[in-house]
Amino acid sequence: MKSHRWGTEWALDWAVRLANEADAERVGSVLRSAYARFDLPGHDRDRLTDALAAITSPPLPLLRSGRYFVAELDGELLACGGWSPDPPPSVAGRPGVGHLRHFATRADWAGRGVGRSLHAASERQALAEGIRRLDVVSTPDAVTFYSSLGFEPLGPMDIPIAGFAMPAIYMSRRMAR
Ligand SMILES: CC(C)(COP(=O)(O)OP(=O)(O)OC[C@H]1O[C@@H](n2cnc3c(N)ncnc32)[C@H](O)[C@@H]1OP(=O)(O)O)[C@@H](O)C(=O)NCCC(=O)NCCS
Repeated sequence: MKSHRWGTEWALDWAVRLANEADAERVGSVLRSAYARFDLPGHDRDRLTDALAAITSPPLPLLRSGRYFVAELDGELLACGGWSPDPPPSVAGRPGVGHLRHFATRADWAGRGVGRSLHAASERQALAEGIRRLDVVSTPDAVTFYSSLGFEPLGPMDIPIAGFAMPAIYMSRRMAR
């Protein structure tokens, strides 16, 4: 572990490691915390609630994939996120393109660079597997996060989740090497 500066204080850094199935419950709790304030004014609240329940349930195939990471500090999970060579449902795959998947940071750790560190781990592994471009289906709230990582918006799309058309933004970034 290394230390890093946050505001005027120095704090212990978190560790990034591969997730596994045993993390399911705690990853679910990170997802629920990250999406607790998610709202889409003007949309059907009940359907959005159902969609958020689906989004915040532990992503078991990703947890088993060996390409999904968690950030951990003193045994507590702060954030999760990873990538897959296969596209998520509703997205057409392209050769040589990987897909960022299910990034979330616990609400009380947002904005401290944890999500960025999980992206760095994902990028490193994807590059080692021959991937040269990463795509992501971003929530409206996360567009600024992905933009700050160098992703560019390609256009809006709706993702069908639990009978709800979740508005999203398709983003992409060519990785350097
Ligand atoms: C999106 C999310 C994962 C970002 O995680 P995070 O740990 O807070 O992000 P970081 O602290 O690593 O931020 C990295 C950069 O993105 C920027 N950023 C992150 N969230 C931002 C926000 N909501 N608004 C503006 N900028 C933001 C940070 O300022 C930082 O920029 P910098 O490094 O140039 O200063 C987190 O906010 C989250 O869980 N959101 C809710 C769930 C969600 O929508 N997930 C996306 C699924 S596609």
